[in-house]
Amino acid sequence: MATVALKEPPAPGDMNWPERFHAVWEGVRLRHLVVLLWLAALAALLACRERPTQQAQQTASAPPAPAPADISHGEAPVGSTTEPPPVDPAAPPRSVGRLHTVRIEIRHAKITIAPGVTYDAWTFGGQVPGPVIRVTTGDTVDFTLVNHAPMPHSLDFHAAEIAPSRVDVNLLPNDSLHYRVVARVAGAFMYHCGTAPVALHIANGMYGAVIVDPPGGRAPAREFVFVQSEFYTKTLPDSTRTIDWEKLLGLAPDYVVFNGRAAEYAKHPIKVRVGERLRMYVVNAGPNRWSAFHVVGAIFDHVYLDGSLAHPLEGVQTMSVPVGGGVIFEARLAERGTYPFVSHAFADATKGAVGMFEATP
Ligand code: CU
Ligand code: CU
Repeated sequence: MATVALKEPPAPGDMNWPERFHAVWEGVRLRHLVVLLWLAALAALLACRERPTQQAQQTASAPPAPAPADISHGEAPVGSTTEPPPVDPAAPPRSVGRLHTVRIEIRHAKITIAPGVTYDAWTFGGQVPGPVIRVTTGDTVDFTLVNHAPMPHSLDFHAAEIAPSRVDVNLLPNDSLHYRVVARVAGAFMYHCGTAPVALHIANGMYGAVIVDPPGGRAPAREFVFVQSEFYTKTLPDSTRTIDWEKLLGLAPDYVVFNGRAAEYAKHPIKVRVGERLRMYVVNAGPNRWSAFHVVGAIFDHVYLDGSLAHPLEGVQTMSVPVGGGVIFEARLAERGTYPFVSHAFADATKGAVGMFEATP
């Protein structure tokens, strides 16, 4: 193999072993050098030819500008404001007593879904999401629903085991409905208008969260409620937005939001303490998009799927929250800093399903 000669090969027996070895090595080295030079030239040529292609691909895949949310990793802006968020994410306190009178009034109202964006919504209680209802297992809810809107609406509690044909009925304008129900199963639940087409009523803002606590409650924690949902919009002559039915059927929301407003808690980070237990009741109202709930920089100690208390998951990075479902997340933040929470379906995070925790000692 290694027989390339640089000079006239000496006759056998003219060289001693070291000289022979050196001559052979010189030959090998030169041939490898020639091959290496050829390879380098070829690589340079290929690199020159490929560069324009790479540039074209980068240009083609560049994100649209301006992006709906100000973006860094986790789709959240860096930095924070000291003013509190207009939509309070804190969970209401645990209920006292065993009988709870709940009255919800349906009305159509204009709401803000993003900075400078007003939406013509259908609401429970004039807000989107509707009010959070919190009770304990075994409690009785004495419930009244009143319809102040100019069209039929209804209300379906996922936390209630009750015949829909009796209670999830259409209320005509200015009509009301009254019934009692016992909350039997602990968890995070959705409620929503069930009037057809349901996708339209939910997309227009008719949903909210119910927290049912187990007897004795859960371990102490800072508690938050995040209701994820979508808005599909087109602009009216007066510049307010209304539903775009085609976008809704095409699953193409303009905004995906927590608690009714795009990137609300990215602009107004939620202040928490390093090491304290955080508990997040996440309800996905949809009407279409799955949530992949994740806190950047944290691993969930416990995840309680829907109403299940029996088998919490441990050590979870991301958990799916189905449309129409709820999941309870517990986590602690390890050190000072800002921690984005997102739907890890990043198109949705870019459209507003993003917030921030700001942890200080
Ligand atoms: Cu409705
Ligand atoms: Cu439902």
